[in-house]
Parts: sequence; structure tokens; C-alpha cells
Amino acid sequence: MSKFWSPLVHRLTPYVPGEQPKLNDLLKLNTNENPYGPSPKVIAALQVEAADTLRLYPDPNSDKLKSAIAQFHGLQNNQVFVGNGSDEVLAHVFHALFQHDQPLLFPDITYSFYPVYCGLYGIQTETIPLNAAFEIDVEDYLRPNGGIIFPNPNAPTGVPLAIAKIERLLKANQHSVVVVDEAYVDFGTESAVHLIQQYPNLLVTHTLSKARSLAGLRVGYAVGHPDLIEALIRVKDSFNSYPIDRFAEAGAVAAMQDVDYFNSTCAKVIATRTLLVEAMEVLGFSVLPSGANFIFATHPKHDGEALTAKLRAHNIIVRHFKKPTRIAPYLRITIGTDAESERLVNVLKAIV
Ligand SMILES: Cc1ncc(COP(=O)(O)O)c(C=O)c1O
Repeated sequence: MSKFWSPLVHRLTPYVPGEQPKLNDLLKLNTNENPYGPSPKVIAALQVEAADTLRLYPDPNSDKLKSAIAQFHGLQNNQVFVGNGSDEVLAHVFHALFQHDQPLLFPDITYSFYPVYCGLYGIQTETIPLNAAFEIDVEDYLRPNGGIIFPNPNAPTGVPLAIAKIERLLKANQHSVVVVDEAYVDFGTESAVHLIQQYPNLLVTHTLSKARSLAGLRVGYAVGHPDLIEALIRVKDSFNSYPIDRFAEAGAVAAMQDVDYFNSTCAKVIATRTLLVEAMEVLGFSVLPSGANFIFATHPKHDGEALTAKLRAHNIIVRHFKKPTRIAPYLRITIGTDAESERLVNVLKAIV
């Protein structure tokens, strides 16, 4: 605390990211990173970029990256916004597209950065409880609001929401923006991206941190109607002209273009998830249906916090949330390789 802090800073409750410990022989299943490295084409593109041209600023509009994203999704460049990780994209969304005098609606159990942005930008909020099966019930969102946001699949539960339900919400909620955060969509959840052609109130955000194995490069994007994109560009150009550096643009373009590599690593993660869920159910865990590269699991005889500590004693790190209390019995476990799953299951077998 300092007398030099602004009143806003005194009131802030910042986001706490999952830890990145530097231990040997650590099995790190706590921050939903991809167990496979990025495409070899990404590494080659980064090597080319390590050149004299680094003395020059990057393209402030990231046109090549916008084109690669537009091409991947079958869109126009003016339907694409890019940023330094989807967290930055989301920050601009909260600033640019949510009405600040009416409550923003989001689930009570969701990505814990959303309330942090609301605190930063002074946005009112109303949290909507997930139903007993930890699902989003869109009927609960049909009420006055300054915007709606949720991840699909949801985090940290991994539970997907059907596209027909998202469409129902878009039709019923035409006076404010609905943001679908598809950070984990590529691991078996149906994307809403095609709906942006029909619904000017829909914005979909993506990240290259998960399915494209580039958490270290910091690239994310949003797609939506050009009017929504223009609002984001206005905020971005009032904040930082160059959020995407030369490496980030070159690597991200290569990642978006290597569709075969992307498809094959996503398929491997999904196959490992199926095996892991089966093995954990044999051990007595119940696991929520997951459309993500992580699972949310609980054991009737073991406390979530204690299980997390026991795994840690075996150098395996998973994520545990104490709040809300409804999710305290659960562990969020990132899907690794088959060999990593085997190590996890063997340790769990010994514990339970
Ligand atoms: C639901 C959700 N959205 C967005 C992000 C942000 O991802 P990034 O900033 O790495 O693009 C995360 C990261 O874990 C997430 O879980």
C-alpha cells in the first residue's frame, strides 16, 4: 500500500494465474497448456524472424495475422481483431463493448478473470448460478443486462453448451453483446464462429495458447461484426499500437496455417482425455463431461484440497479452487500425454 496509489488501485483485486514452479520431474497439469510443442513450422518462422528487421516496429494492424485467421475461419479481415493473448482481447472487450450502467451477466462458476476486468473498468455484474449439473441454462440469462459473457466449454468445469442454446440466447438478447470465450473449443466443442455472419450481437474470442501450443507467444483474437471489431480497434489504438510483436505475428501466422498439425494434436489430446476419464472413473472419481483440454473431477471419499496436496507431494500439480464452495471438492486436471496420464493414474491409485 502506498499513499501514491490511485483510489482505483486500492480497490483492485487482481487475477491470480496458476503457478509456474521450477521443479525437476514436475508433472504440470495446472494451467491447461498443451503437452505437445507448437508446429515445427512455427519454430522455423520464428527463426526467420530473428533478424535485422527487429529494429523496425511491427505492423500495428497485424494484417498478415488477420488474413491467416480470416482464412482459417472463412471470414473477412474486418471481422477479426487480434491481441496480446485473449486476456488482452477480453480486457478490450470489457472496456469497449459492455454497457457500464447495466449489469454484465456471467456464470457464478467461470473464468475468474471476468470479475477482475469488471473491477478494473467499473462494470456492474450479476452472476447467474450454473444448474445442478454445472450447466449454463440460457433461460436464466433472459433479463436486462449490459452484456453477457461465458466460456464455451465453460472453465473450470469443461462442460460444453450446445450451439442451439447459444442461438436461442442471441435471438432473445439483441440489445447487448453476447461474448462466447472459445479458449478451449477446439478440444471437441462446437464453435459459434459461423453465427457471427447472422448475429451482429455476437463476438467470439479465441486463443493460440491452448490448441496451438503457443501460451508463451501471447496471441489471441476475436471475431464478430465489423462494428464490434471497430470498437475494439478504437480501444486498442488508445492503449498500445503494437500489441503483436514481430515474433508473435510470424509464429501465429504459421500456427494458423498448419491446419494438419493443429488437427492431429487436438485429436491426440481428445483421445488421451477419453482414456483418462475411463481410468479415473474406475478409481471411483466422477468427472463432468468435458469438451476441453482439462477435466473437472471429484472423489466421494477424498477432499479436493487434500487430494491436490497429496498429488503435489508426488510432484504432480493440478488446480484446485476453494471458491465457490460448490466446486471445492473438485480438481481441475489438464490433459497431458498418454504417458503423463499413466503417471497420474498410478499415483491416484495409490492415494485413493
Ligand atoms: C476461459 C479462458 N479464457 C481466456 C484465457 C486466456 O488465455 P490467453 O490469454 O493465454 O489467450 C484463458 C486462460 O487460461 C481461459 O481459461
